[in-house]
Amino acid sequence: MPKLTVPELIALKGHRPISWMTAYDYIQAQLVEAANIDVILVGDSLGMTTLGFDTTLPVTMDHMVHHSLAVRRGAPHTMMVVDLPFLSFATPADALRHGGRLIQETAADGVKLEGGSAVVPAVEALVKESIPVIGHLGLTPQSVHRMGGYKVQARSAHTIHQLLDDAKRLTDAGVAALVLEGIPDRVATFVTDAITVPTIGIGAGKGCDGQVLVFHDCLGLSSGYPKFARPFADLRTVIVDGLTQYREAVESRSFPNDQESYHVTEREWEHFLALTDDHTP
Ligand code: KIV
Repeated sequence: MPKLTVPELIALKGHRPISWMTAYDYIQAQLVEAANIDVILVGDSLGMTTLGFDTTLPVTMDHMVHHSLAVRRGAPHTMMVVDLPFLSFATPADALRHGGRLIQETAADGVKLEGGSAVVPAVEALVKESIPVIGHLGLTPQSVHRMGGYKVQARSAHTIHQLLDDAKRLTDAGVAALVLEGIPDRVATFVTDAITVPTIGIGAGKGCDGQVLVFHDCLGLSSGYPKFARPFADLRTVIVDGLTQYREAVESRSFPNDQESYHVTEREWEHFLALTDDHTP
């Protein structure tokens, strides 16, 4: 399938649901591309899923570049959106420098940043330079301390109103799509109907224009799951089972067997023995 362009992504709104999936390395990217997923997100969730941090806050631009390069090599034909990490878009100048780096060094097709009206100047600076931007509202993990944990957002009339206003402002600023995370389903549906660009939901119900999941949650690799994440496979069990069988085969010396070993001819072996004094095996 040819790589989706940004105008094509926007035009999918109202036509068919859009699939997004995170990926953080070469093999994951190959697998996501093989499944014909529309968009790969190199999320800063890589800090938690891949680097073992407790939050996404320690993730740096260098981490994002390193992982995005591997993803791009694994999925050259899939639209790749890369997260701008914590503090990398605090000013429009920062956003431009770091967003530009992701586009130039990793061949990203767009960048994603978290936040509402406060990030509008950063979005405008990027859009002005033709860097496609994806917004991210609701449960924004980079604001974990302000939110007091990973809590569902926009549950009160006031905060729903605020989220709707932020969504409209981001749309006016030129975002190509908007991730809605951890908000009630009817709020996400209302926002989806109120804006002209696709909404991509995660823990935001089925009324969004598309869905995104974290690779490890989608395939059952995580040790625990948020309520909204459906594991579509049980790879953790499959992998631990395979590794256990490997350990048992090593311990019982049934691995490697004859076919899994390389051999030298009898003639060469005799020749070798004749060349050496030491005949101990
Ligand atoms: O970092 C990430 O993976 C994300 C998705 C969960 C939307 O932002």
